[in-house]
Amino acid sequence: MRGLKALILLHLVYFCGCMDQLHIVYEWKQIDYEFPTPEARQQALETKNFIPENNIPMGLEIYEDRLFITVPRWKSGVPASLNYINLKDNSTTSPKLIPYPSWAAHSIGEDGKPPEIISPFRVRADRCGRLWVLDNGKMGNLEKNTTKYPPSIIVYDLKTDNLLRKYVFPEDQVKEDSGFANIAVEDIDCENTYAYAGDLGKPAIVVYSWEKNESWRITHHYFHPDPLACDFSVKGFNFSWTDALFGLGLSAPNAENYSTLYFHPMASYDEFSVSTKFLRNKTLADDNFSAFNVLGSRGPNAQSSVSFVDQKTGVLFYSLVNLNAVACWKTSNKEYLMKNQGRIYMNEETMVYPTDIKVDYNDNLWILSNKMPIWMYGKLDANEVNFRIFSAPVVDAISHTACDITARSDILDKFVNKIKNATNSIVAKIKPNSGNVAYNPLAVVSILVFSWIITLTL
Ligand SMILES: *[C@@H]1O[C@H](CO)[C@@H](O)[C@H](O)[C@H]1NC(C)=O
Ligand SMILES: *[C@@H]1O[C@H](CO)[C@@H](O)[C@H](O)[C@H]1NC(C)=O
Ligand SMILES: *[C@@H]1O[C@H](CO)[C@@H](O)[C@H](O)[C@H]1NC(C)=O
Ligand SMILES: *[C@@H]1O[C@H](CO)[C@@H](O)[C@H](O)[C@H]1NC(C)=O
Ligand SMILES: *[C@@H]1O[C@H](CO)[C@@H](O)[C@H](O)[C@H]1NC(C)=O
Ligand SMILES: *[C@@H]1O[C@H](CO)[C@@H](O)[C@H](O)[C@H]1NC(C)=O
Ligand SMILES: *[C@@H]1O[C@H](CO)[C@@H](O)[C@H](O)[C@H]1NC(C)=O
Ligand SMILES: *[C@@H]1O[C@H](CO)[C@@H](O)[C@H](O)[C@H]1NC(C)=O
Repeated sequence: MRGLKALILLHLVYFCGCMDQLHIVYEWKQIDYEFPTPEARQQALETKNFIPENNIPMGLEIYEDRLFITVPRWKSGVPASLNYINLKDNSTTSPKLIPYPSWAAHSIGEDGKPPEIISPFRVRADRCGRLWVLDNGKMGNLEKNTTKYPPSIIVYDLKTDNLLRKYVFPEDQVKEDSGFANIAVEDIDCENTYAYAGDLGKPAIVVYSWEKNESWRITHHYFHPDPLACDFSVKGFNFSWTDALFGLGLSAPNAENYSTLYFHPMASYDEFSVSTKFLRNKTLADDNFSAFNVLGSRGPNAQSSVSFVDQKTGVLFYSLVNLNAVACWKTSNKEYLMKNQGRIYMNEETMVYPTDIKVDYNDNLWILSNKMPIWMYGKLDANEVNFRIFSAPVVDAISHTACDITARSDILDKFVNKIKNATNSIVAKIKPNSGNVAYNPLAVVSILVFSWIITLTL
């Protein structure tokens, strides 16, 4: 099934050059940092405060001229776990990372005091000019020596880069196996703002209210991993992951100012949703299990990690880990079926482990891929490009896919007419005098239309 699907997808790259419209904006073989001086860099290498091969970019975000990149402290030798690059600097496609907001925020004190930012995976810049950093709080958790600090939400003012708030999760909302990697921010109102932090280790959402400066933990069985969807296979590496709630995408608000949260566990083929009306009030969420909806299945082998909703077009973008692909679904569709899903980009070399997806405030789609399973279970080749950032305007990325904002029947009609005209003229050329056409142009049309439908399906 997987082979067949991958084959169809790959085949389509050649069949229809109109797909996979993203281009690579940045790419790195290894991550490097903008140290204060070359000597400081040399010293960091010698003292093993910087071990280049242990640095892997996991999350991205775009705000005005800056592109933020997180580098979790899974292993030792990560000098700064939240960084940015300047989008205006086009002197290189492999820029060095600049620690955000400063080197000081990442340095471990002489007394072993943890840095201000410990280990974030994903961050979110809201429309009110605040950067929300979800800090997992763990250091070295892929090595023998794990140091755990409580997870927190750290918020910076993007105008001044000042720390606005660090909210440490209360003890009773953090469990032994908790792991906080993904955050969605509901910023309809800059004061009455909510952040939703997904717990992938012990299935739950921690909801934080900016206005009340308090949080609560919501659990639901739809946040759990599906035991039949825990096996992954990426570039020859087979592994089992039991990660729970992962992808979190927030729709535009409805008339009552509530968004819909689209979500899925990592080990799952299914997509779910819930109105934030319930998440914002713990009593309501706990008392009403029917507030949570099952939307449908992406199909076999279609486990997804990160996801994001573009609020303008209402398109949900999500990664397909086993397929080295990013796909989409229009949230205005009533049904979440395989055939309603579009392919945004697929590539066995460049899109190995799409790890973060964002749409910026100028309507561009951004994707980061990082070969994470190879890094984790094998070894990255430092002579090859390992990390890539792709981008394109959303309208280009979704054009000619099932998520195109042009009505689908219009595209299909146009396509069928064009092909009919083309085949009619070909047939006319081949058999100019034949009134009794043995070669049926409609058969050609139906083959082409069939391919087209497959294109839309995947
Ligand atoms: C880099 O940016 C500058 C100013 O934005 C522009 O003038 C220049 O053409 C750009 N160079 C390249 C190689 O794109
Ligand atoms: C373990 O981590 C602690 C705190 O970061 C550090 O002081 C210690 O040297 C580490 N031990 C090893 C064996 O790396
Ligand atoms: C938010 O609450 C925490 C305690 O949970 C407190 O330490 C902090 O000072 C509060 N921040 C603000 C801005 O009220
Ligand atoms: C890995 O998984 C793939 C697909 O599930 C399978 O075809 C392959 O045989 C597996 N490889 C190993 C070494 O188990
Ligand atoms: C929704 O939020 C907007 C912006 O904060 C506000 O102007 C509007 O009155 C709100 N609508 C409702 C129904 O609360
Ligand atoms: C939450 O919902 C419950 C049940 O409808 C209601 O009694 C309570 O006042 C709500 N709490 C808040 C803070 O809105
Ligand atoms: C529970 O949620 C459903 C779906 O939104 C709603 O129709 C129903 O009225 C809710 N029930 C209660 C008791 O709030
Ligand atoms: C197909 O041909 C018809 C009649 O010749 C014409 O009206 C129509 O515009 C053509 N359609 C396309 C897509 O070229």
